[in-house]
Amino acid sequence: QEVNYGFPDGFLWGGATAANQIEGAYKEDGKGMSTSDYAAYKDPYATGEVNNFTFNVTSKELEEYRANEEKYKFPKRWGIDFYHRYAEDIALFAEMGFKVFRFSISWVRIFPTGLETEPNEAGFAFYDKVIAELKKYNIEPLITLSHYEMPIVLSEKYNGWQSRELIDCFVRFATACFKRYKNDVKYWITFNEMNMNLNSLYTGAGSFPDRVDHLEEAAYQASHYQFVASSLAVKAGREIMPDAKIGCMINRIESYAKTCKPEDQLQALKADQINLFYPEVQARGEYPSYMSRYFNEKNIKLETEPEDFKIIRDYTVDFIAFSYYMTHVTEDRPDANELAGKLDSPIKNPYLKLTEWGWPIDPIGLRITLNKMYDRYKKPLFLVENGLGARDKMEADGSIHDDYRIDYIREHVKQMKEAVTDGVDLMGYTTWGCIDLISCGTSEMTKRYGFIYVDQDDEGNGTLNRFRKDSFHWYKKVIETNGEEL
Ligand code: BG6
Repeated sequence: QEVNYGFPDGFLWGGATAANQIEGAYKEDGKGMSTSDYAAYKDPYATGEVNNFTFNVTSKELEEYRANEEKYKFPKRWGIDFYHRYAEDIALFAEMGFKVFRFSISWVRIFPTGLETEPNEAGFAFYDKVIAELKKYNIEPLITLSHYEMPIVLSEKYNGWQSRELIDCFVRFATACFKRYKNDVKYWITFNEMNMNLNSLYTGAGSFPDRVDHLEEAAYQASHYQFVASSLAVKAGREIMPDAKIGCMINRIESYAKTCKPEDQLQALKADQINLFYPEVQARGEYPSYMSRYFNEKNIKLETEPEDFKIIRDYTVDFIAFSYYMTHVTEDRPDANELAGKLDSPIKNPYLKLTEWGWPIDPIGLRITLNKMYDRYKKPLFLVENGLGARDKMEADGSIHDDYRIDYIREHVKQMKEAVTDGVDLMGYTTWGCIDLISCGTSEMTKRYGFIYVDQDDEGNGTLNRFRKDSFHWYKKVIETNGEEL
């Protein structure tokens, strides 16, 4: 058989963002309040440590934030003002040659409380403009329907995705978006990184951790309802836009065994099973049997209906999207299963360097994971997040020399290219935070991912002016040469 070296024609190069991390304008045009509007900034360095995650909010904290709003800062309310600067930002994406731009539609702009039966026209008007602007430059929109935010009203009324009621609310939102953009948008993702429910019940599922008894059970219960909602969205999507492609998405963390000891290898397999459980359900259409055993042994009992499993089976996704930031190491130890779902791992890989935020950098792991997932699912893959969060320094002349970011992305692109040459069907690559944005995990601005620098600090001070980093010019070349010039 012929081997095709390098990226295929039509490979979708671009960048990725999420509404709550860029838009700002949190009170404009009838937008409701979302869970992300209550992610307060807590100085990540106050404790001398980075990664002071702010993405879990308890119901008590919400009460406090409401009662004393002026005491707190909520950076996801101001974002980077994409709401008013979208045309300038999209022009910069076009200058880099983007073929695709991933963004999300804020649920609360369309259904401010999540309970309305009719969408908010003014909310759609904003996305109409964004999509028209993208079309002007032939940039394909890739839309995530739910990216780490949802109506706070649904969180308070139902404890978010702990309730079956959420399925209808989400499907109503998804259907309205499909109807509105059926002629303009071909690529859709239903939920961002659904497996992160295990890390943050509030961010992923809009559920307050202090309102559940069994945290892990609650994460899987939310996931179950989201599986059904996602499949019903696929069903609606197929009816409304037969040519569209609808994908699922996970935060993919490949797990290596610490040694070749069989017990360690077994743990690595188990960690992988936990991570791949999500595409297992959404791409293959059934709960894998290993999870039944896992649930039994963890005393996890889910509320399900027989009809749910039929829906999950009948409406699987067209492609598997994933983010890739790191790999983990695991070993035979009592807490190995708990660690499998988590973002931070206490076991370090001596062969890998870490980012300033402690995330292991592993480009070869990307090739491994691309091969593994493709062998397993034989469905197209889409790498919709990858990138380096780093501190950038602007020089007096406005330049930003981010050679560390170029190195990071170059090494990952090289491995992607190897995987594609191995035969993996990869649809495209959207680097995370192609323009600097508010961090999801820590609500800070200091952790920058962009090719485009945004002049704003953690407190929201700055001109908001945009500047091209060195990586901007480098990525432009990569796209221009379809990944040949790295
Ligand atoms: C992904 C999320 O998990 O990681 C993004 O989908 C997020 O929303 C990204 O921004 C990077 O995480 P952080 O915490 O550095 O912003």
